[in-house]
Amino acid sequence: MSTEQAIPWSELWAAAHRASASAYAPYSKLSVGAAGLTDDGRVVTGCNVENASFGLTLCAECGLVGDLHRTGGGRLVAVAVTDGDGNPLTPCGRCRQLLYEAGGASCQVNETLTVGDLLPGAFGPEDLP
Ligand code: THU
Repeated sequence: MSTEQAIPWSELWAAAHRASASAYAPYSKLSVGAAGLTDDGRVVTGCNVENASFGLTLCAECGLVGDLHRTGGGRLVAVAVTDGDGNPLTPCGRCRQLLYEAGGASCQVNETLTVGDLLPGAFGPEDLP
């Protein structure tokens, strides 16, 4: 899957919505699902997993990045994030950084944005010695 090829957004939206059904969100009641397309054409997914110690909550994008590495690694070229009704959700600040690491500035987000739009001037692997 090269970045020149069309992104199967319908498939990503559907996979994100499906993943949101697995969310563990008893505290916020906000189910979140994320789906990403990898540079070799896989679709990886994640859902949010909350914790009674609220700050330990794992966002859906955290699970997605785990799934990326668990299933063979590579780079994310596009990501869709939805709530439990399938409505688009914008990634939080920490998750923008996670997506930057896994896909870089050119990774597309929710059809209309890129990670570079969401996290301009990002700090990343290239800034480390
Ligand atoms: N959440 C995500 O899963 N991803 C985001 O990018 C934003 C927030 C989750 C975390 C928490 O379980 C719930 O949404 C409310 O913040």
